[in-house]
Amino acid sequence: MHVLVTGGAGFIGANFVHQTVAERPDARVTVLDKFTYAANRESLAGLDIEIVEGDVADRDVVDPLVEAADVVVHFAAESHNDNSLNDPWPFVQTNLIGTYTVLEAVRRHGTRLHHISTDEVYGDLELDDPAKFTASTPYNPSSPYSSTKAGSDMLVRAWVRSFGVEATLSNCSNNYGPYQHIEKFIPRQITNVLDGRRPKLYGAGLNVRDWIHVADHNSAVWRIIDAGQLGRTYLIGADGEMNNKAVVELILELLGRDPQDYDHVADRPGHDLRYAIDATPLREELGWEPRFRDFRAGLADTIEWYRANEAWWRPQKDAVEAKYAKTGQ
Ligand code: NAD
Ligand code: DAU
Repeated sequence: MHVLVTGGAGFIGANFVHQTVAERPDARVTVLDKFTYAANRESLAGLDIEIVEGDVADRDVVDPLVEAADVVVHFAAESHNDNSLNDPWPFVQTNLIGTYTVLEAVRRHGTRLHHISTDEVYGDLELDDPAKFTASTPYNPSSPYSSTKAGSDMLVRAWVRSFGVEATLSNCSNNYGPYQHIEKFIPRQITNVLDGRRPKLYGAGLNVRDWIHVADHNSAVWRIIDAGQLGRTYLIGADGEMNNKAVVELILELLGRDPQDYDHVADRPGHDLRYAIDATPLREELGWEPRFRDFRAGLADTIEWYRANEAWWRPQKDAVEAKYAKTGQ
């Protein structure tokens, strides 16, 4: 099977490529990535794969790659909410026009597509609401990032219905694990502590995210590609709800520091309160189960990865923190 992975040099895509190479010896992998600030060539070092530098919104690049592939796994996106608040344009261009370009190519060539999306398309939940997101929760995105992801999902659904494109979709909760860019919450705080800086918590830190290890997200993606129903949306989550304050305190504890040794900084405008996923169809119909059920143990492994791979993140640390300092975060 020839797999085209868009955004394969980013966090989840690179983990997907590693997992695919390790577990699917018959798969041939091609990565298409624009190598934006979020990509890292070192994340794919030493793998026997083809890497193409190019834009998912560039038809001339995308078309022959899609034609040659058996399945396209579309991870490529602008992914960071804070960046989308500072400059929404790349989000509109990549997440909407890029997905449109991929869809037109799979339509032309009859190639199977799996579209990667986020739980943020559903908006947020109250802290005391027992509800969780399901595939029938109405879309209600809050940020430029999540609204462009919502739009990309709608494009995929329309291309399935109108043109018979063979696609599945998945909407996953917050991932953690190796190779995540240090602009994101967990790796930012880990590298802050490793670098002698204090962790930064937005607002009161009561916002809840539903954490899943990236390896579990990717095993679910393969399960959907192998056995999912065409046209369906599957929600991916591993019952990992925790508020940000508790996560920061756990990172400090695991690193042997005083758990209260962090700063409260400016809150994110429009900050979503809580996300929570009900993954029952994925578990019951497709028989998927997460392997990382213990967040503390998964977080400890992730901390060790950042400690052991300082060369991977160090070159970006000062610039990332300087950018956050401009917004008081
Ligand atoms: P990331 O920012 O780490 O990686 C994105 C990758 O896409 C980078 O390698 C970047 O260079 C590439 N890219 C960006 N624009 C491109 C373009 N125009 N053409 C080609 N490549 C381009 O993101 P991530 O966290 O790995 O997220 C991957 C996907 O998973 C995204 O679609 C995101 O919406 C989705 N998702 C992420 C999470 C999460 O917790 N990180 C959760 C659910 C869904
Ligand atoms: O839910 C899935 C989404 O999870 C993905 O679609 C996005 O691509 C991914 O970036 C992530 O979005 P979040 O906005 O939830 O992730 P982020 O890591 O930016 O922030 C997680 C929480 O931590 C959020 O409530 C904001 C807060 N935060 C973030 C940073 C960077 C802090 O308190 N301090 C920080 O320094």
